[in-house]
Amino acid sequence: MASINVSYLFILLFLLAFSANAQLSSRFYSKTCPKLESIVRAGMAKAVNQEKRMGASILRLFFHDCFVNGCDGSILLDDTPTMRGEKNALPNRNSVRGFEVIDDIKTQVEAACNGTVSCADILALAARDGVDLLGGPNWVVPLGRKDSRTASESEANNNLPAPSSNLSTLISTFAAQGFNAREMTALSGAHTIGMAQCRFFRSRIYNDTNIYGAFAAQRQANCPINGGDNNLAPLDSTNSMFDNKYYVDLTNKRGLFHSDQELFNGGSQDGLVRIYSLSSLIFRLDFANAMIKMGNLSPASGTVTEIRKNCRVVN
Ligand code: HEM
Ligand SMILES: *[C@@H]1O[C@H](CO)[C@@H](O)[C@H](O)[C@H]1NC(C)=O
Ligand SMILES: *[C@@H]1O[C@H](CO)[C@@H](O)[C@H](O)[C@H]1NC(C)=O
Ligand SMILES: *[C@@H]1O[C@H](CO)[C@@H](O)[C@H](O)[C@H]1NC(C)=O
Repeated sequence: MASINVSYLFILLFLLAFSANAQLSSRFYSKTCPKLESIVRAGMAKAVNQEKRMGASILRLFFHDCFVNGCDGSILLDDTPTMRGEKNALPNRNSVRGFEVIDDIKTQVEAACNGTVSCADILALAARDGVDLLGGPNWVVPLGRKDSRTASESEANNNLPAPSSNLSTLISTFAAQGFNAREMTALSGAHTIGMAQCRFFRSRIYNDTNIYGAFAAQRQANCPINGGDNNLAPLDSTNSMFDNKYYVDLTNKRGLFHSDQELFNGGSQDGLVRIYSLSSLIFRLDFANAMIKMGNLSPASGTVTEIRKNCRVVN
């Protein structure tokens, strides 16, 4: 009996050591870069102190990294003459931001422990800290991701959801990454922080009928039918605080994107939106768990990876 257990143990250890998607661990750098978490935290505290929105921008960067061949820092790579990367994909171009913040943190992490910590892990920690700094839930971030040597413009175009999506498309886009509808609705609560450009919500505020009239008029004032494409509006009514107001807004037909309001429009997620609108605690728990799950998305097995020295270029 004991010998059977021992051989199972060896098989298990072998699998853990050599599996393509090695298990992440919160203590991955505890010996090799003990200051990592405090460096990232300080970098994010400085950035958010300068501009609260940065907490939101980094959270979105992490989401857009993870939904394209796993959380592998692929979104951080600049285009090269031979590679069209993710920065210029439609959901990202002139939209995702925060790259300089990650660069600054990476520089400090390299100074403390060079060649050790992946850009993908720095982004995962920075996203968590951004949420926490704006009053959201905190969670322990499993670490040990590696950085990709490629990025894919086409995969970014295909995998990332559009603000014009209906509920069934949202559900299937997230299902393609292993998330159920409840997790999709919880993750959408990220829109409790940050800003959006007019071009992404224009059709909603002019053409949708499930929108509160005074709210549509208010948003139209800074988002004309023609022009002003880049004018910004807050994603929810308390957009520098990570709270459950996004869901309260949805129940009042004040979702900014068509896709947001799809979560509360007489469909399958209405009940959950009501629950989150009434219980900040349930939302925070579901959001944190879904974020950890998102952080576990890993590149296809066999993908060649590395620890990048500079997050913008492969070594
Ligand atoms: C459910 C489908 C989703 C759609 C259709 C969507 C779409 C968008 C769009 C169009 C913007 C505005 C970008 C701009 O104006 O430049 C935005 C902003 C944002 N999104 Fe999403 N998103 C979705 C889900 C998520 C998820 C899952 C997260 C994170 C967990 C997230 C985090 C954010 C944040 C924080 C912002 C504000 C960024 C900033 O202020 O810089 N979104 N989203
Ligand atoms: C780290 O820095 C040292 C010198 O400061 C250098 O010799 C070493 O090659 C560097 N390691 C990596 C992996 O970049
Ligand atoms: C949702 O959108 C997709 C893609 O645009 C479309 O094919 C589908 O018919 C729509 N579903 C519903 C229920 O409107
Ligand atoms: C509203 O819908 C009409 C008809 O589909 C379309 O022609 C128009 O461009 C839309 N307006 C906006 C602001 O999206």
